[in-house]
Amino acid sequence: MSRAAVLCGLGGSLPERIVSNEELAEQLDTSDRWIRTRTGIGQRHVVAPGQSTSDLAVAAGAQALASARATAGRADHGVDPVDPVDLVVLATSTPDRPCPATAPDVAHRLGLGHVPSFDVSAVCTGFVYALATAASMITAGIAGRALVIGADTFSTILDPADRTTRAIFGDGAGAVVLRAGDSGEPGALLGFDLGSDGSGADLITVRAGGSRQRSVPGPAAEGEEFFTMDGRPVFTRAVLDMSRSSQSLLERVGWSAAEVDKVVAHQANIRILNAVGEQLGLEEKQIVANLDRVGNTVAASIPLALRDAVAGGELQPGHRVLLTGFGGGLTWGSAALVWPELETGRPHR
Ligand code: ACO
Repeated sequence: MSRAAVLCGLGGSLPERIVSNEELAEQLDTSDRWIRTRTGIGQRHVVAPGQSTSDLAVAAGAQALASARATAGRADHGVDPVDPVDLVVLATSTPDRPCPATAPDVAHRLGLGHVPSFDVSAVCTGFVYALATAASMITAGIAGRALVIGADTFSTILDPADRTTRAIFGDGAGAVVLRAGDSGEPGALLGFDLGSDGSGADLITVRAGGSRQRSVPGPAAEGEEFFTMDGRPVFTRAVLDMSRSSQSLLERVGWSAAEVDKVVAHQANIRILNAVGEQLGLEEKQIVANLDRVGNTVAASIPLALRDAVAGGELQPGHRVLLTGFGGGLTWGSAALVWPELETGRPHR
């Protein structure tokens, strides 16, 4: 047994407004049939004007903190239910502003005091990277209790005329609380596999707005402030890299694919989830999917899928869980844990 980061709280938040495939088809040259058959998505949530990533992150964070308090109150982990969080890590690629990071504002609005807080940017892999960062800080003794949030509002950076990206992406936030514990406990993060390949940086990108190409108002810069994705090569790499990363982590943890109860992969496309399942030799019942209701919520995708799987009774205490993500960078990452007993309350959306 050794010191480990243990998952002890879970929450999520979705904006109120739902955009159905039918509504998109009224604005763009697409159809419910195309979107469902090519992606598996039926609807997505989008923020209201003025609503930002931090708003969703605060709501998800508050829910995860309440879940951690309720869980600690129920089970005797020797943890004070009011133990304060002493670290906030926020995964996002749609920060409220380019500078400063969004995490300090989220920590402040959650009333967490002067805790260290920072953003992690790894697009759709952001949550796994943030989880690995916070877990490492806990095992190193730098932190004792961390709030890890994945939050994105891609609707704010999509080209309104791009039928492909508008069909796929939705807004949302998901969060977990990690506490210092023991590697033998349910909820302990048992290992990570992380990777990146910058040669694919142009495949998923927002060209303007950074130091290489600053935003210049006017026709020359038109469209370059929007998110773009080269769907086909991204599809292939997503399948390959999530499968390889999962396989390499499973070997390290000592689980066979058949021994995994639930694979919670980044919710990009149902065809990608099925192809990863095929590569790993998984059965359909092992794969968690909520993308029909929320689309691809980027850094929020994995924690929102966890939240929905718990709420639906699909994910149970004692289940062996593999998380795996892929996104811009290119980046990928996986994590493994045995699912703990959690008080989560009812998701309000
Ligand atoms: N409605 C109707 N037709 C469409 C739509 C739409 N919403 N979107 C694209 N099409 C058309 C294309 O224009 C193309 O038409 P053409 O043949 O006349 O040129 C045709 O459909 C086929 O296009 P493809 O891009 O080949 O379609 P594909 O089946 O590959 O699906 C998709 C596109 C859904 C984007 C898919 O490639 C995909 O899921 N890619 C991976 C996405 C992903 O994994 N992202 C994860 C990381 S994202 C991140 O990190 C932020």
